[in-house]
Amino acid sequence: MSRVIFDNVTKIYGGGGGEAPALSNLSLEIEDEEFLVLVGPSGCGKSTAMRMVAGLEEISDGRIIIGDRVVNDLPPKDRNVAMVFQSYALYPHMSVRDNLAYPLKLRKVPKNEREERVREAARILDIDQYLDRKPKALSGGQRQRVALGRAIVRNADVFLMDEPLSNLDAKLRVQTRAELVKLHDRVRTTTIYVTHDQTEAMTMGDRIAVLSLGVLQQLATPQELYDNPSNKFVAGFIGSPAMNFIDVTVEAAGEHLVAVHPGFRMNIPDSRVGNLRDYVGKQVTMGIRPEHLVERSLAAGEIPETALLPATVDVVELLGNEIFVYLDVRGQTLTARMDPSLRLERGQQIEVVAVPEHLHFFDAQTEQTIR
Ligand SMILES: Nc1ncnc2c1ncn2[C@@H]1O[C@H](COP(=O)(O)OP(=O)(O)O)[C@@H](O)[C@H]1O
Ligand SMILES: [Mg+2]
Repeated sequence: MSRVIFDNVTKIYGGGGGEAPALSNLSLEIEDEEFLVLVGPSGCGKSTAMRMVAGLEEISDGRIIIGDRVVNDLPPKDRNVAMVFQSYALYPHMSVRDNLAYPLKLRKVPKNEREERVREAARILDIDQYLDRKPKALSGGQRQRVALGRAIVRNADVFLMDEPLSNLDAKLRVQTRAELVKLHDRVRTTTIYVTHDQTEAMTMGDRIAVLSLGVLQQLATPQELYDNPSNKFVAGFIGSPAMNFIDVTVEAAGEHLVAVHPGFRMNIPDSRVGNLRDYVGKQVTMGIRPEHLVERSLAAGEIPETALLPATVDVVELLGNEIFVYLDVRGQTLTARMDPSLRLERGQQIEVVAVPEHLHFFDAQTEQTIR
């Protein structure tokens, strides 16, 4: 097992023809035995980062360290890293057993040990009963387990998984997600797991690194990312439905601050004021998660008039256990996550309360969180 360190790593494809870097000055330490998720939209540099760890892509600048070795100039076969891709890349003419044993054969592992390791991996992944089948006689989920098995038999120091569940249907994806987490609990191999899906990231990662346009935005636990996003990008990327953003002006009202919008004036609780004092008279972006917009009749405690947002129900999406309500507040659309018992209908006028402790504020220019 091994830690993995990205030390100020930059990747520019095409040898300096002025292209934007696919990855810029990435510094990130994945601890020994950790399950770290690298998440971000398509094209943000996730696969590039993985391929550089595996040795499949040259590093333009900086260092990658696996264990105690700088691996920049080490060929892939000497890195003891196992990679699992979205496509399973199994050999169709070989049985599952031979597919699993093949990486060991390549490394000249003796036959006895090969068989032992294949048995062990098959047991861990619960694919013992398919060892004599060919891949085409397996379901997508079973094939994915065989692909994982090929990584496990190698006793690699690091697992690199690049969107390994993308080809599975929704139900199997959720199931395999949980299996992968359990697998990691058992084998404890340091794992870097790449996905564009924030739900997958939130449910699987010990820690999550959020990337945008080749730049690391935040590295934190799932809860910390959700509660305290460091900027507007992370705030909008983590959480589904996404956080609402509203342009407001900060005004002073006696001792207190208020967020002013054409549709409402909202008191900002003293606990959230912090550096917002520096923004009096200026525009900032206010963020409210859909689950923190509450219909008046369901809001707890005394509600001051100033905390109420008058809204028109625009669209209601029924999900059974909850509803997503698209509200119009003076031309601004807000998404709220509400209880089906409200029986809301299109065109209805309601009042909602934003839970004040959960308001977020971002600098309108830098998009950084105002603490
Ligand atoms: N071999 C390549 N040559 C040139 N540009 C590439 C190559 N591979 C990836 N890129 C570019 O680098 C950026 C990051 O790509 P990638 O790492 O595949 O992103 P992700 O895996 O997050 O979707 C993208 O802009 C992509 O077009
Ligand atoms: Mg990719």
